Order: sequence, then structure tokens, then C-alpha cells
Amino acid sequence: MLARRSFLGAASAAALASAAAGCAVAPLAAPAPVRAGHAPLRKVAFGSCIDQNKPQPIWDAILAGKPDLFVFGGDNVYASAQPWSRSRLQAAYAQLASDPGFARLRRTVPQLAIWDDNDYGLNDGGADFAYKQDSKDVFLEFWGAARDDERRRRAGVYHALRFGPPGQTVQIVLLDCRSFRSPLRATDQSGGAGKERYLPDPDPAKTMLGPTQWQWLEEQLRLPADIRLLVSGVQVIATGHGWESWGNLPLERERLLALIERTGANGVVFLSGDRHIGALYRDTRPGRYPLFEITSSGMTHAWTQAREAGPNRLGDLVTVNHYATLEFDWERARLRFALLSETGLPLRTHSVSLAELS
Ligand SMILES: [Fe+2]
Repeated sequence: MLARRSFLGAASAAALASAAAGCAVAPLAAPAPVRAGHAPLRKVAFGSCIDQNKPQPIWDAILAGKPDLFVFGGDNVYASAQPWSRSRLQAAYAQLASDPGFARLRRTVPQLAIWDDNDYGLNDGGADFAYKQDSKDVFLEFWGAARDDERRRRAGVYHALRFGPPGQTVQIVLLDCRSFRSPLRATDQSGGAGKERYLPDPDPAKTMLGPTQWQWLEEQLRLPADIRLLVSGVQVIATGHGWESWGNLPLERERLLALIERTGANGVVFLSGDRHIGALYRDTRPGRYPLFEITSSGMTHAWTQAREAGPNRLGDLVTVNHYATLEFDWERARLRFALLSETGLPLRTHSVSLAELS
């Protein structure tokens, strides 16, 4: 089946562009349409945390690598200052769109996006953010969701698509870890190693995804696919720190890992952002295939001083601006993933056979 996303309407594009404060901005270019369906993916690029006011030389390297698809993993603009306003969020997106490199990517490379707190609208925000519907409207408009897009008929911005024929199918599942998330338990020692901002809260009433998204996720995981990229703004299996992550709600994290087992979902790889660091992680447990996580965070402002324990991390943190790529070698049945510098130099690489992920 060929699915095609509509272009951003001319009127709404002009409205977004005119929201850019204080400067004349050309109407936004239409986003390249995403075509889910038969053609197999060869290469996906992924990144997060883009300050629209900072230089973005990284787009040139990403474009030179010719990805089939770019996945925006959240904090795609920074617009979480309070009091929140729709016009400031629109201006932030318009500012991003005015970057020549981003504009070229937007025109030429199909894109998928999920949000994190800074484009959702509230730093470390969850379900109680008062303007999440306004923010969602702007999000869907900017990322080119069609008028009949399923996300317009339900709460949140979670979304999934599958690409490629049987045997070469990549499923991309974008999880909304903001719209439904319960309040987190604040740390008792701000900045303390391993509990920098939050403590694990095993309250069974608390949720990361909310019941409807959980049900949807189970249905998605039961669909056939050879590789499944589960995109979460916040880190999933990474441990060793007390910033935001699925580890803040450990029962929800266990539920996710148990759901993958129960559904028999093969080929799961997590993609995450938020942290202003890059890293590869591997979670191994007896009787289950290894789960990898690729955190790619900091396309314009990585955290150069970052240090943290990484019990399940592969190699050191990446503390310079970077993005990630995933290359699907269908002939050899292998997946290669990499973190690359803003000039396209590989910083971390790893390769797995698809047989290892089942
Ligand atoms: Fe974030």
C-alpha cells in the first residue's frame, strides 16, 4: 500500500512563516512526502535537540549521506519558555525552516517526527501541560500531517509506519512520551550522581504512554516487520543517570520490555534523544535477544562536559554535535548503526546481524 502525506497547505505555511519575529521569511517549503510501502529502506538518519537559533552546519553532512528518511527524535525546536505561547512555537519552527540546510532537507528527504519536552512546550513536561492541544496543532501543521491523518482523530502525536516488502520491512514507531506521562518524582539531591533530577518511582498508577497508546503499541508490535525502530524522546534502556528517562517510571519500563517479549516482536532497536549526548547501549537478559539503544542528541549544542556511569553503554559518550545513521544491508541481513560528527565523520559504529535481533 502506498501512503502519501499531504504537503503543508500554502495558507498555513505562510502563517507559520509570518510568525518568525521581526524578519521577512519566504513561505515554508513543502516537506518531502513520506511514502510508506513497498520500496525497501537502505538508510535512515536520525537526530534530535536542535536549537533553531544556533548554527546548523550538520545538515550538509546529513544530506551528503543521502538517507532515504530522516527521523526527528524530539526537541526539534526549543520553545518551552513559560508562559508558553502558540506564536512563539510557530516562530521557532519558522526559524528552523529558514535555515538553508534544513530547508534543503525538508524539500528533498522524507521526514518523520516525534516531540520531546522542548517542542512539546514545557521543560520535562508531561500530561498536565495545559497547552498540549495547541502545541499538537502546530506540530502536525509543521510536519506536514494530512487533513485525514490518524493523529488528528486521537490524543497525542504517536505514529507508526512500515516500509519495504516482507523480509525487508522496517517499522518505525514514534512514541509520545509527553502527552500522557504522569508527574515524576523529584530527586532529593539535585545534581547528585545517578539522581541528578529524578528518582525512580515504582507507583503502579503512574504511566508513560497512557492506556490507549499502550494498546496501540501492542497492536503495532504484533504487525510483521523485520526491524522495528522504536523512537522515544527520552532514553529507554540507558541506565546510570537520574535525568529524565523511562527509568523514572521503572514499572513502565518493565512493561515495555515485557510487551516486546509477550508479542514476540523481533528486530526492536530503540532510538532516543533529549540528553545532549550520543551513545550506544545494549541491554542483555537471559532468554531474550539483546536490545540496542542509539541515543543521538545534540545536533546544535551537545553537552561537552558530560560524564556519567554507563553500565550498559558501548564505549564512551559522544559529547560533540552529531547525528545517527542506520543502514540496512538486506543482502547480508545486517544492520549497521553509527553516530557521526557534524562533518559526517563516524564517531561510534556497531553492526549486528538480523538473526541476533530475534
Ligand atoms: Fe528533552
